Amino acid sequence: MDNIALIDLLNQQKTLPLADLTRLIETADEKDRQYAADLAADISRSRFGMDIFTRGIIEFSNYCKNNCYYCGIRRGNGQLERFRLTKEQILDCCHIGYHLGFRTFVLQSGEDEYFTDDKMVDIIRTIKSSFADCAITLSLGEKQRSTYEKYFAAGADRYLLRHETANPQHYARLHPPDLSLANRIRCLRDLRDIGFQTGCGCMVGSPYQTAENLAEDLLFMADFKPHMVGIGPYLPHRDTPFRNMPPGSVTKTLLMLSLTRIMLPPVLLPATTALGTAQQDGRILGILAGANVIMPNISPLNIRNKYELYNHKLGIHSDAQESANILRRQVEQIGYRLRIDRGDYRN
Ligand code: 5AD
Repeated sequence: MDNIALIDLLNQQKTLPLADLTRLIETADEKDRQYAADLAADISRSRFGMDIFTRGIIEFSNYCKNNCYYCGIRRGNGQLERFRLTKEQILDCCHIGYHLGFRTFVLQSGEDEYFTDDKMVDIIRTIKSSFADCAITLSLGEKQRSTYEKYFAAGADRYLLRHETANPQHYARLHPPDLSLANRIRCLRDLRDIGFQTGCGCMVGSPYQTAENLAEDLLFMADFKPHMVGIGPYLPHRDTPFRNMPPGSVTKTLLMLSLTRIMLPPVLLPATTALGTAQQDGRILGILAGANVIMPNISPLNIRNKYELYNHKLGIHSDAQESANILRRQVEQIGYRLRIDRGDYRN
């Protein structure tokens, strides 16, 4: 069977045998990728019209107790100046974001034990009481179920926790021994059980990744059925053990976005910052390959360069207003529009 027929079959069955998916990812040429992108963008438009949902990301702490080999804010990076925003600074970001039209705030940080359950609950409650028409997405890493329950009870709506890779051996090559795929998946299942709209996802082109690993990621997602999926290229950071590893490919990332949309039609799928960093028009190509969400940074400018997960991260020099304006122009150029809405998951 040729790749176009495989893509059609994936669209009908919403899954494929591992070997077929692997071969598709390995051998897709320009024409196959375009076919997948057009199909994925059609599926996306039939669900969401020309609307692109937006979320304002607030990176509020770059302290992290983990030491992931790929990540610029890993504990072992002694070159990095660490920062934490105060509750007031976080709320200021929300105010600015609200006026720019954001109705979802994504609170993202390293795994920072300073932010105890009580502190996070207080922050979540305060944001929810000031912005009743907004959703809160958390991206704070692996926690105990009881902690996730407290966040949810305080009013958090969604949680992003990329699985990074669905293959346990590959997971062990990207992370130190104290982190495991099993615990990551435990967290994802807890989050979904509790009632969060839950997001997983992976990097494309992370060190040691094979085409089969990417196929495993897709099959994991077909099974888990996340509400959101974050996929971006791996990009090296100079102060990590993977500094000399080559970046992931933009075209392969776009193919993964398209296959994800084809498999999971209602999924909320961002064109990620990493994709826009790897290539200037990356996020626009992401939309044209099936993405329907964009997540600009609304953190204070003075700390942005300290939240470098990888080098040359997009948006380090433009403030929230400027980032939003640039995006709006780019999105409108291809006939889409940014939607002022919480943008919840709908099946
Ligand atoms: N390149 C690309 N993505 C990265 N992330 C972390 N480090 C990198 C990197 N060097 C991604 C991970 C994480 C998300 C917050 O950022 O997938 O889950």
